[in-house]
Amino acid sequence: MNTSQDPRESTRGLLNTAAVLRHGFLDVLGESTSSPVPTFAQRAMNSRLVATVYERLWRPTSFYLASGITARAEQRRAAAALRLSTAHRLLDVACGPGNFTAPLARCLPAGALAVGFDISEPMLTRAVVDNDGPQTCYVRGDARVLPFDDETFDAVCCFGALYLMPEPFDITREMLRVLRPGGRIAILTSYSGQAAPVRKALTATANLIGLAMFDRRSFVDLFSSAGLVDIEQQTQRAVQFVAATKPR
Ligand SMILES: C[S@@+](CC[C@H](N)C(=O)[O-])C[C@H]1O[C@@H](n2cnc3c(N)ncnc32)[C@H](O)[C@@H]1O
Repeated sequence: MNTSQDPRESTRGLLNTAAVLRHGFLDVLGESTSSPVPTFAQRAMNSRLVATVYERLWRPTSFYLASGITARAEQRRAAAALRLSTAHRLLDVACGPGNFTAPLARCLPAGALAVGFDISEPMLTRAVVDNDGPQTCYVRGDARVLPFDDETFDAVCCFGALYLMPEPFDITREMLRVLRPGGRIAILTSYSGQAAPVRKALTATANLIGLAMFDRRSFVDLFSSAGLVDIEQQTQRAVQFVAATKPR
């Protein structure tokens, strides 16, 4: 990769569809918004207020309560699981305000590229203000159809978002499509727990605001049926982290 290239130009070269530069991010969607019937949780992610407080207040508080893990520890775990020290292209799906994209970009070798991808304009506007950098570019699009060719990225992640999405497993397969053989995938999502009463209570509460709860097998089974290897899973309270390698 050419180290002197602007990250937006590098990213444009990876996109398989036209994009316009708006507010500092590349937009492949134009005027279109998110799903036709957004849930409460999806509406929140499209709100300017939530985008403003997300990185410093909403995210650290809610995820610390849900997992007992700090954002810094999560970032270290993600960088290690994705093997970023040897990756050249990272895709952070549903990057929100870039709160993982930027710290993960700093773990990449010089000249590598981190692409943050999200559907929410307010989130991406914040990402450009708060989490831009020489190896970072943000793209607005819908993760149901990632606008990249097969096997484009060395590492692909999606944190804190699959439980918001109506098609979490299709989106995970999309992430696998754009991952190159030998590359790593990591996801952080909800975990319903093992004990039936806890599972029932968590699922009912989450469903009220439009969040899905996943059991221990959901993503492990998806990864193993897709042929992935080195599958690692950690569960903490209501959160699970799953990482794996796409075989060569
Ligand atoms: C809670 S934020 C997660 C931000 C960050 N990854 C984190 O771990 O803190 C969830 C993000 O998912 C995005 N999102 C939801 N549906 C999406 C879709 N279909 N395509 C792309 N992004 C989507 C929302 O816009 C929101 O910014």
